[in-house]
Amino acid sequence: MKRTTAIIAVVWLTAVCGVLTTSAEESSLKAHSLDDGLARTPPMGWYPWNEFGEEPQNEQLIKETVDALVSSGMHEVGYSFVGPDEGICFYRDSNNILATNLKRYPSGLRGLGDYIHKKGLKYALYTDAGTHTCSKAMPGTKGYEFEDMKQFAEWRCDYIKIDWCNTKGQDVIKTYTQLHDAQHAAGRPIVHSLCSWGVGEPWKWAASVGHLWRTTGDICEPAHADWKKAMKIVSKNERLYKWAGPGYWNDPDMMVVGMAGLSESQNRSLFSLWCIMASPLIAGNDLRNMSASTIEILTNMEAIGVNQDPLGIQGYLVRRADNVSIWAGKPLYDGSQAVLALNQQSSPRDVRIEWSDIGIDKKARLYVRNLWTHKTSGPHTNGVSVPVAANDVVMLRISKTNDFPLPPVIVADSYFVSLRATDSSAQSLSATITISNKGSDDLPLWKVQKGLPSWLTVTVSKDGNKQTLTNTISTSGLKKGLYHAIVRADNTEPVSGKPMSAVYYDVDLEVPNDVASQSKTAIKPE
Ligand code: GLA
Repeated sequence: MKRTTAIIAVVWLTAVCGVLTTSAEESSLKAHSLDDGLARTPPMGWYPWNEFGEEPQNEQLIKETVDALVSSGMHEVGYSFVGPDEGICFYRDSNNILATNLKRYPSGLRGLGDYIHKKGLKYALYTDAGTHTCSKAMPGTKGYEFEDMKQFAEWRCDYIKIDWCNTKGQDVIKTYTQLHDAQHAAGRPIVHSLCSWGVGEPWKWAASVGHLWRTTGDICEPAHADWKKAMKIVSKNERLYKWAGPGYWNDPDMMVVGMAGLSESQNRSLFSLWCIMASPLIAGNDLRNMSASTIEILTNMEAIGVNQDPLGIQGYLVRRADNVSIWAGKPLYDGSQAVLALNQQSSPRDVRIEWSDIGIDKKARLYVRNLWTHKTSGPHTNGVSVPVAANDVVMLRISKTNDFPLPPVIVADSYFVSLRATDSSAQSLSATITISNKGSDDLPLWKVQKGLPSWLTVTVSKDGNKQTLTNTISTSGLKKGLYHAIVRADNTEPVSGKPMSAVYYDVDLEVPNDVASQSKTAIKPE
């Protein structure tokens, strides 16, 4: 099934001392979450809070975590957003502008962003909508919404978690709407993660001002995973399934997989639940010290494929008896369905899943793929019986065909191109960004949005599942200065015809001296 999808052309071009926006950008950003192309599948990444709390959050921890994201294989399966949560990373200076705490982040928060982008990852930061963050360790955005969003953009943040502490007297809808407007004004595409813990029922209104919203309180105290607390969160989040979709997600909090307090089977169960609920997959454990089993769980591509499905449907609980629950309601892009059986008893159970329980004609002959054993059985009619170990889960995909393709999972080798002119006569410089698709289907060529500055040309070529975006810069006629552009590329998932999350990256050009023009008109930095 192939369909063509209109692609909205938006390019952010920013200069060092300001931001230029095109009128196409203006109109597309008004509709925000769906049209900005951000987070059309649930965001995947890591935040430090669950494991570390405020301490010891610093540049070294974040950089070591970035390296662990890459070396553990998590980057390869789609985890990308990473950065500090509440810790002491910035303060408000005497000009009321946010400034890096250089004792903890000696490279500066912009330097940390560059490090993250060069590793092919995306930069996440944390702030608060009130006067201060929860522990009052850092200033909140109240009264400085526009200044702070501009600063986050200058630090090249891609994802901002906005907490709801110290907000006495503030209206939750007005506050988050203003923060969205401030981010729009700053001109950088940033995923907005609202963290009001369900206050103000954000699922009812936040899709136009953000991409995900916490539906509940915190999943744990720092460093202590708590299974019962996690399951309470699951039951609150589950009921909200109708409110999630591509670009707007219910967020039951960062995961506790791999933390002290959970068994291996509970880790697997929690991860499966996050996958079937289309929840953001934000790991919260110490990635530098993971067991083989934690890595295997967090990087299970077949489970991640369910989470990252292009239809973006949140599954739900269909039946629960004797502490055994069956979850379904998650049709997938290829016509298959995800189903999950969770056994919270202390003894193993044989669980029967009837096709009629999950809305399928009982005569249907279906293949069943176990997403944890990676084995397929069938065809089965009427239903399937599965043994589920004590306190464990079975996660299945059910299909008419004995074929279980994986949807696209996009991995970039870098999100940052940085070039420097070395000559005062005109030069052509170039650098590439490689985007790989870890899914099964061949993607069409990525389409680079129009409206790039005249000094930059981007061409796309394809070699199997890898596509190379070649950024060519002509320095002809450029005045001395720093030049910056944000490139956006869009694609369409070919099986469902759904637009994919856009790829954005930064291009920096340094021109140390005026360059002679090959043509008659000189070009100034934007
Ligand atoms: C709130 C959030 C947590 C974390 C802490 C930081 O409790 O819900 O995820 O960010 O604040 O203080």
